[in-house]
Amino acid sequence: MDKKKTYVDSHAHILSEEFQADLSEVEQRAADAGVEKILLVTTSASEAYRGMEFCGKNPERYALAYGIHPEDADLADEKVWDEFVRIAHDERIAAIGEIGLDFYWRKDNRDKQIDLFIRQIEIAKEVNKPILVHSRDAIQDTYDIMKEHRCRGVMHCYSGSPEMALEFTKLGYLLAFGGALTFKNSKRAKESAAAIKQEYLLTETDCPYMAPVPVRGTRNEPANIPYIEKELAAVRGEDADVLASAIIDNYAYLLTGVRNG
Ligand code: NI
Repeated sequence: MDKKKTYVDSHAHILSEEFQADLSEVEQRAADAGVEKILLVTTSASEAYRGMEFCGKNPERYALAYGIHPEDADLADEKVWDEFVRIAHDERIAAIGEIGLDFYWRKDNRDKQIDLFIRQIEIAKEVNKPILVHSRDAIQDTYDIMKEHRCRGVMHCYSGSPEMALEFTKLGYLLAFGGALTFKNSKRAKESAAAIKQEYLLTETDCPYMAPVPVRGTRNEPANIPYIEKELAAVRGEDADVLASAIIDNYAYLLTGVRNG
């Protein structure tokens, strides 16, 4: 008998306010869709602590990440930083993120963002955990920093060029693709997704944002991963089952830093 296909959501914000009212239904729909592994990304210390409790109930399915988002760089005073370091060391935290650079919303605090990004990478290295990298209108700076401060991790919601995609994989980073991949006008994301080796691919929702076609415009959730993975297989001209099993392996690699086989 065929084994049911299983999926990974490597970037979900289901502990955010948008899911408070119906979280258990969201979890059930993800399970029904075969989304067996979900990496929960939290953006505040209090959310991270809630995540520890939440993930503890189902550690097979959930892993947890926390990082200071570049949009919050100005809020990262000493207290926020000390708390971040404490949480990063906690064994219930699997990954550091999302961290990175965002010059789309703000460029005036560029130096502050860069400094915060580098300091968080250094902590990730210290605790031997992967980084989840957010980069918007800042791909060259992001790359330069990641080249100099070598760690392991994933480029979340990758939106750079295919050439740059290959450069990130040369540094050992994975690239995650989400709902944007299914949009008609996302030529660059499709080209990037097709350009890299299978061993560097991940799927993600970034929910509640970026719902894929055919549910574009609605609140996104982990149960939508199959739409994204189907598009990924089509863009790459690959067998969907082979791709699905590769992505499961890639996710394990992201979290452990060890390739099996
Ligand atoms: Ni996110």
